[in-house]
Amino acid sequence: MKVLFVTPECYPLVKTGGLADVAGALPLALAPLGVESRVLLPAYPGVRAKLEGVARVAALPGLFGGAGELVEGTTADGLRVLLLDAPHLFHREQGGPYLGPDGTDWPDNHLRFGALSWVGAQISMGRVGGWQPDLVHLHDWQAALTAAYLHFDKESADAPASLLTIHNLAFQGLFPATTRKALKLPAEVLHVDGMEYWDQLSFLKAGVQWCDHLSTVSPTYAREILTPEEGMGFDGLLRARAHELTGIVNGIDLDVWDPETDPHLAAPYSSRRLAAKSKNTAALQRELGLDVRADVPLFGLVSRLTEQKGLDVLLDALPRLVATGAQLAVLGTGAAFLEDGFRAAAAAHPGQIATVIGFDEALSHRIQAGAHTVLVPSRFEPCGLTQLYGLRYGSLPVVSRVGGLADTVIDANTAALRSGVATGVQFSPVQPDPLAVAIERTVEWFADRPAWQRAQRRAMASDVGWGTAAEQDRSLYAKVVEHRLG
Ligand code: ADP
Ligand code: GLC
Repeated sequence: MKVLFVTPECYPLVKTGGLADVAGALPLALAPLGVESRVLLPAYPGVRAKLEGVARVAALPGLFGGAGELVEGTTADGLRVLLLDAPHLFHREQGGPYLGPDGTDWPDNHLRFGALSWVGAQISMGRVGGWQPDLVHLHDWQAALTAAYLHFDKESADAPASLLTIHNLAFQGLFPATTRKALKLPAEVLHVDGMEYWDQLSFLKAGVQWCDHLSTVSPTYAREILTPEEGMGFDGLLRARAHELTGIVNGIDLDVWDPETDPHLAAPYSSRRLAAKSKNTAALQRELGLDVRADVPLFGLVSRLTEQKGLDVLLDALPRLVATGAQLAVLGTGAAFLEDGFRAAAAAHPGQIATVIGFDEALSHRIQAGAHTVLVPSRFEPCGLTQLYGLRYGSLPVVSRVGGLADTVIDANTAALRSGVATGVQFSPVQPDPLAVAIERTVEWFADRPAWQRAQRRAMASDVGWGTAAEQDRSLYAKVVEHRLG
């Protein structure tokens, strides 16, 4: 089976969050299962140079206000990548994939991701480069408009099957209705049964309306988004398609995230050689200016600093963390009030709290390895990957009981501890007091070293690779293609 992934980011080429990790790892995990994938993404600055064997596939004149080309290349891991190289849309010295240097959305994001989606549709129709997928797998709003272009294509009967994965319902790709013409969309899209959303256009809604099937990144999140509380305005639409919505928990790349071979670590370790993990703790404490000590737990946090992640709640709970004597290492970037809040906390508690503002892949590995426990207090979390890295690195996750966090961490309640299955701590609701109690429970658990180490070994043996998820995705692909051919 041939599958085209359309995605705005892909590790190791460009990454702002977990979607990149998924788009970089899932195609590789599908290869041994007989799925031949290509990943289409924009050629942001520097991306093309990271590929090997780059060759031009096709010229793309008249691409939403400029000319572009489609090139093909391969990553060092053998991922086959199609790059949409359109300088007028993606070559920008400063800023990131979605935001300009001032931290707000690029004003032409509708054209940038409209173009990505349009090219995704052209490849899907077999019109570019002579390769046509059996299924097109769209990721988030930035790719979802592909579904509209396929739906309104004059040869839409020949379109491949389509699957939209919603990684985060909070991002809906909303643009003024007046952008419709520039996006080459017919007037019908501006309808409640089209992609109209409160007088605007929603790229995500196009995917939800017109893809053959929908998926999201955990069974719990798949249920949550059907409710008015968590559906972010899309719950009615999603309920109407509930029988075509599948929740599959993401895996992680076990080669990239392997404490035995991770090149970023001070000392390699494994569940058999767990004592060596403490060298990473000491190295991290030295690197970040924390007191070098082994008698208190070091909490790690690697996150986008946004409302979603519940980090304002963590700031409120910090006095209780500090009172336990535990340490905290924060790596993140995002909202100014959260950056300021964690900077101020570090300044107020030198040696006990350290904050690094920025995006640093290598440091994120060192935190996973050096921390005893990782914090993920999200208000909502479709899947979450940092708790999976925590499990793999024996850094027991402390998580809110939502979405993929609920599905992947087993809470250390009395029954789970007695039967020897606990792998972390869960709390609910996402408020300072329950979070502080979870932190205090973790500190207590950590003090019982034999019990803690048993849980670490259990966590490190958890099935967090892509194996199961890739099997589930492949069966889903087969089902959706079969249904399409029908
Ligand atoms: P989300 O996609 O919502 O941000 P995930 O937990 O799925 O959340 O994925 C986040 C990914 O981004 C993880 O790989 C995490 O390690 C990484 N990450 C987040 N913030 C940073 C940062 N400041 N520096 C390095 N990596 C980061
Ligand atoms: C989104 C979600 C996160 C998920 C990631 C990959 O960014 O916020 O929970 O792990 O996508 O699917």
